[in-house]
Amino acid sequence: MDDTSTRRRGLFRPRNLITLAAGAALVATTLVVPGTASANTTLRAAAAAKGRYFGAATSSFMFSDTQHVTILNREFNSIVAENEMKWDATEPNQNQFTFTGGDRLVAHARANGMSVRGHALVWHAQQPRWAQNLSGTALRNAMINHITRVATHYRGQIHSWDVVNEAFADGGSGGRRDSNLQRTGNDWIEVAFRTARAADPTAKLCYNDYNTDGVNAKSTGIYNMVRDFKARGVPIDCVGFQSHLGTGLASDYQANLQRFADLGVDVQITELDVAQGSSQASIYERVTRACLAVTRCTGITVWGVRDSDSWRRGENPLLFDGNGNKKPAYTAVLNALNSGSGPNPTTPPPTTTPPPTGGGACSAAVTLNSWNGGFTASIRVTAGNAPLTGWTVSVTLPGGAAVTSAWNATNTGTTGTVAFRNVSYNGQLGAGASTEFGFQGTGVGPTATPTCQAA
Ligand code: G3I
Repeated sequence: MDDTSTRRRGLFRPRNLITLAAGAALVATTLVVPGTASANTTLRAAAAAKGRYFGAATSSFMFSDTQHVTILNREFNSIVAENEMKWDATEPNQNQFTFTGGDRLVAHARANGMSVRGHALVWHAQQPRWAQNLSGTALRNAMINHITRVATHYRGQIHSWDVVNEAFADGGSGGRRDSNLQRTGNDWIEVAFRTARAADPTAKLCYNDYNTDGVNAKSTGIYNMVRDFKARGVPIDCVGFQSHLGTGLASDYQANLQRFADLGVDVQITELDVAQGSSQASIYERVTRACLAVTRCTGITVWGVRDSDSWRRGENPLLFDGNGNKKPAYTAVLNALNSGSGPNPTTPPPTTTPPPTGGGACSAAVTLNSWNGGFTASIRVTAGNAPLTGWTVSVTLPGGAAVTSAWNATNTGTTGTVAFRNVSYNGQLGAGASTEFGFQGTGVGPTATPTCQAA
């Protein structure tokens, strides 16, 4: 299961202690940086002025905590679910999905001008019990179904998804972590990314990990994977550096971010928290400055709001104390954001499937994600020049292929030419409007363009 103890041991490597003296000097520098009349007074405004987001992990049950939510809304323009979008939370029983907590977070973000990071589609930890007990093809198919359903549910509402979390081993191997997912085959990560892209072509798709805070064996293993993915066209857009830090920071923290950015992906600081101590503020400052100095570093997320909200109980690793007061670390980050001169990120949006064109009452376009022995298909239905009150899309499957499940449509038949009919909530489409449904199948996916008929 979780490897918190391993991670915590990693936080206090001697390497981290060496930078303490330099860190203390930086605190002094920060404290004498004068605020200017035009300096932004909140993290979200200061980050936005630099073209970045500044986010925090939270939970929907915290929305009834007035102090927490006041700080959250004032200071942050991005949120991430600390736990509520994970596999155990969203699919407690196989193929039964609950989105209550995550939906509340998304609604809160919308109401308060925030974007949402999605965390995390697949991870060896926090799997529901039923998934822990699966292996092989059954687990692979369950993973694909999970990613498809969750990313489809939140389609268009997530800035960046942590598609795969913590898949690399600690220590010097630079290789993959052993897990039930890893044992389904080394291609599980790329299948996860392709599946996520098919389900939500607008979200940036990230690989996310910890103990990657400099050039080391683990970060290099991930670097090699990202380079390989980019070379082979596996859809990856970003790499998350969790940055659960101790009392020191690797001197090549920024250089490490930059080498990933140079591969053509965005980088994000995704779970920042720093052990208490005299170097805390300076480490926060240096991480912030590092992000500002890397053009493709698009945002920073801290893993909680107040020290009392943190998973690192007793370490007081966040920007606000247990009473909601701003700590020196907060001031250090705000000053760094206000004074940083990093260029604004200019990143291309992820590739999206162009909408189908042409006349007729409706049309359908398919995006296919295939692997050895199976596939998922996302189908975009677009109304023609007149509104629709219902639609049926016919898809012809090659011999041996069969539909195993469908979402946002009901199917008649599972082999040969399969008809997918709209469900109650997506049959009505205005002229030119579109909607999406999908299905999963065994065998080889459809190769011909589906046909669409208005009801
Ligand atoms: O919800 C149950 C509750 O019903 C039960 O009574 C209680 C008893 O222990 O447990 C509750 O679940 C806990 C859950 O947090 C929600 O509070 C789990 O035990 C606990 O293990 C879980 O911890 C989370 C941890 O991930 C799980 O691995 C932390 O809150 C969360 O901060 C932490 O976040 C991870 C990131 O997802 C990935 N990177 C590392 C980071 C820190 O470990």
